[in-house]
Amino acid sequence: MIVLGIESSCDETGVALVEAAAGTQVPVLRAHALHSQIDMHQAYGGVVPELASRDHIQRVLPLTEQVLSDAGCALADIDVVAYTRGPGLAGALLVGAGVACALGAALSRPVLGVHHLEGHLLSPFLSSDPPQFPFIALLVSGGHTQLMRVDGVGRYELLGESIDDAAGEAFDKSAKLLGLGYPGGPALSRLAEQGDARAFKLPRPLLHSGDLDFSFAGLKTAVLTQAKKLGDDLEARKADLAAATQAAIVDVLVRKSIDALERNGMNRLVVAGGVGANKSLRAELSAACRKRGVRVHYPELHLCTDNGAMIALAGAMRLQSGIEKASEVYAFDVKPR
Ligand code: KG4
Ligand code: ZN
Repeated sequence: MIVLGIESSCDETGVALVEAAAGTQVPVLRAHALHSQIDMHQAYGGVVPELASRDHIQRVLPLTEQVLSDAGCALADIDVVAYTRGPGLAGALLVGAGVACALGAALSRPVLGVHHLEGHLLSPFLSSDPPQFPFIALLVSGGHTQLMRVDGVGRYELLGESIDDAAGEAFDKSAKLLGLGYPGGPALSRLAEQGDARAFKLPRPLLHSGDLDFSFAGLKTAVLTQAKKLGDDLEARKADLAAATQAAIVDVLVRKSIDALERNGMNRLVVAGGVGANKSLRAELSAACRKRGVRVHYPELHLCTDNGAMIALAGAMRLQSGIEKASEVYAFDVKPR
């Protein structure tokens, strides 16, 4: 079964082909292609939804042609078309959904709407060291921070989540306050490497809340307060403040992940979503897990942020596991929230 996956939920157009055998064998990535709109949105300091939609329209078919050519496949070889149904920007999602359904109708192939976060969650299965069920998942993206118990494909129990800003949002908003531009996460993380995290004491919200929820909205206020206090000295102390911000976010993510593992008696952790690319998070999590005999699985670095491979994969795994059937009704729907 060859599944074409299309991702267009935000500022990345991703298209990929995976091949899945019958049974439980992990699908194989045949080809994937990505166009990032970062350069286009940079001037505005964030994603402009209308520009994002228009750019997806321009990119999605050339990227589809590219993956077919890279995989040595023809359009007729596609068995199923999977697309991101949500969450994401409505207009952007409609582009992927529209193209997926048009291809499905033209080729007489079924289509399947995929949850973007399930794509992230399953993306470590495309790494050279794929996890095995069950595991605890830490999902850290620009819009979500969630801890999940995962017993199989589609068997997800939400254990805790952010009650306000997501971890990626905390990175992005703090970076903006420090004048680091968009996207803030990678920029703040790069600057943090030159700073001393102990130079500022920043809050670790909900660390001792006794549950697995997160709260990051207060952190950006604390960063703003420190930045104001520093005044003209901010420029010279920016790297320290960036390092302290990153340390506060990473500290909470690591401790709550360990707590989730212990509460569920699990020894396997999967980290997914854009913030999973953060070097410091990877180092701290790996160290904390090593101490406790827990194995950690990450997606390949280039598959941490949005991409089509994870959507093709999630679609293929849902079909393989029999929990979902692709549909030949091309009345596509999107779920922005
Ligand atoms: O998963 P993703 O690509 O898109 C969403 O589904 O939201 O995640 C994007 C988020 C952004 O907030 C971005 O700043 C953050 O992931 N991010 C990082 C890093 N790379 C991406 N945050 C911290 N350090 C990084 N290296
Ligand atoms: Zn994402």
